[in-house]
Amino acid sequence: MTNRMSSVRIIGDPVLRKKSVPLVFPDNVQYINTLVKAMQNTLEVAEGLGLAAPQVGESVRLFIAVPNYLEELNGHVVFINPEIQPYGEMEKREEGCLSIPGIYEVLSRHSQVKVKARDILGNKFTLDVSGLAARLVLHEVDHLDGILFVDRLSPIKRKLLRGKIKRLKEDRSVY
Ligand code: NI
Repeated sequence: MTNRMSSVRIIGDPVLRKKSVPLVFPDNVQYINTLVKAMQNTLEVAEGLGLAAPQVGESVRLFIAVPNYLEELNGHVVFINPEIQPYGEMEKREEGCLSIPGIYEVLSRHSQVKVKARDILGNKFTLDVSGLAARLVLHEVDHLDGILFVDRLSPIKRKLLRGKIKRLKEDRSVY
């Protein structure tokens, strides 16, 4: 397993700001398997709920969720080339991110989302989720587009966090 896919990239790392590219089946199958194994290890160690490929330095459209935690995900843990349709009311919920350690903020997002994606075998599936599962999907898909949750905070909140984020950017060796 490659080390380069095992450490979590911290805010300030340019890879977190890139738009990720879609994966191709069956060409990328071996790469996907290696990447998913590395990411699952990383997520377990970091004790997060989800992890997107750019967070381990890979600019591809894939994210994983922690297994057996969110029932609404219906057993799905690997989401490849996800397409989403957020809908429903806006809902406030606290968010954090392994790439922005120590910062947790309440953020408003759509409460429901329809997801189309492929699993690790390339099989298509669809889900319609709400609550924490919807939040996870929206947060992780943002990562694939180079967006971090702090970008979505109000200008006032962002201003209050500026010092903390600056320190994280200066010292990215948190893990
Ligand atoms: Ni995150």
